[in-house]
Amino acid sequence: MPAFSASVPGKIILFGEHAVVYGEPAIAVPVTSLHTRAIVTANIKGESGEIHVEAPDISLSAALFDLQDNHPIRAAILAAIGPDKDPASVPACNILITSSIPPSSGLGSGAAVSAAIIRALSAFLGKRLSDEIVSDLTYNVEKIHHGTPSGIDNTVVAYQQPIYYQKGDPFQFLDIPEPFTILIADCGIPGNTKDAVERVRQNSINDPDKYEMIFQSIGQITQEARELILAGLPAELGPLMDKNHQFLQDLDISLPELDHLVNTARNEGALGAKISGGGLGGNIIALVNGDTNEICEALSKAGAVNTLVTSINT
Ligand code: MEV
Repeated sequence: MPAFSASVPGKIILFGEHAVVYGEPAIAVPVTSLHTRAIVTANIKGESGEIHVEAPDISLSAALFDLQDNHPIRAAILAAIGPDKDPASVPACNILITSSIPPSSGLGSGAAVSAAIIRALSAFLGKRLSDEIVSDLTYNVEKIHHGTPSGIDNTVVAYQQPIYYQKGDPFQFLDIPEPFTILIADCGIPGNTKDAVERVRQNSINDPDKYEMIFQSIGQITQEARELILAGLPAELGPLMDKNHQFLQDLDISLPELDHLVNTARNEGALGAKISGGGLGGNIIALVNGDTNEICEALSKAGAVNTLVTSINT
């Protein structure tokens, strides 16, 4: 029985989260050691329109229309089928979703699940979607996760390359002439991007001048980081990560647990460290060189439930 499969990586935001929602640039890169996979298999005994979803990681086993209207998996499946086709006419199939990207951790799990479903199911239906269309359809599903997504998560997971992203402008692929190493550490508290984005929005309404200044400062940091990356000087990114973290603290989306991991990474020799993603839980990232075992050990002792070392390159 033919199966149609798609695998989509996780992502980290190196610079610019939250400010990117307000029109400032941000830099995101795929994390290729983490993946979500969707496999669509025809159910030759089933009736047209019988679409069954299995996602063992989240203990989900359900028929498409038993999922709530606003369930992101349902939305991704309907996006792949498209508005012009009646879901009842789709050949019966099973969709298996597995993922090594921890959910609610700022690593792009939501966008990766949507993009993997959209790619695999559209292939099953005989459609070959461009990266641009996968990104656009994933963005529409992201609205369910995030409310007002900037568009950076869907773009990086759909194109699977480092990007420099600014809402309203065409995004740019970011060349990385000098690869560098990033350590990712999970504080063990699930982050909720929607809540974090909403908190920043409320705060920015209450104190628009302060928040505008912070967004612009983060945007400036991101531009400087881009220059350093393009110049092949990634070792100099550390102080910019530290500054970016300070501004994320000012945006009130850090937690003592996240700050503790950031400080531990720096004390153990990381060149810089910051939250990555929405915050209020999830992961921090640290720029490291040389042996990472000691920093990973120190981070585990400091409360990290998981650490991952990843190479950033084009
Ligand atoms: C989430 O990965 C990044 C945020 O900037 C939200 C967004 O860009 O949509 C917090």
